[in-house]
Amino acid sequence: MAHIRIRNTNERIEAEDQVLDFLDKQAILYEHWDSNKLTEELKEKFVLSDEEKRQILATYDSEIKDLAGRRGYKIWDVITLSKATPNLEELLQKFEAVHTHSEDEIRAITAGKGIFIIKGTDDIGYFDVELEAGDVISVPESKPHFFTLMDNRKIVAVRLFIEAEGWVASPYNDPEFKESKR
Ligand SMILES: [Fe+2]
Repeated sequence: MAHIRIRNTNERIEAEDQVLDFLDKQAILYEHWDSNKLTEELKEKFVLSDEEKRQILATYDSEIKDLAGRRGYKIWDVITLSKATPNLEELLQKFEAVHTHSEDEIRAITAGKGIFIIKGTDDIGYFDVELEAGDVISVPESKPHFFTLMDNRKIVAVRLFIEAEGWVASPYNDPEFKESKR
């Protein structure tokens, strides 16, 4: 289950109905896939062969096609980040900059953990969405955000796109972000 932290007040939201209500009000799509569909081995594997990536996509084929059908996503893949990723810390530093896209950013976490930092409505400001296996999130187009790992430094996620080429990050330089508490 996703957990929320509002940066300006340090308020945490962890009860399921409150998390769902909060994300709905912030126009963030949030759904859940059954993480137990994955084999025990794949739940804990962060360096994946192409065959293992195909196995993850096959496991969630009906969930992917359902989401894609509803939201117009056309292509999908599996990404993994862990301490085995070359230059991981350098890569994360690059990730940790607020930006926008001209299409949704969708991540379905299948193993490990991750966190989206998102600019909410004016009354909320920046908030963190902490995600674990089974959590599926879509950050709407034009909504300032970035994604990074949590302390365990490992994740496997399915990404879905409308067009891979159209999915570029536009930097969003926001003084409000620098002021928001970490
Ligand atoms: Fe992004």
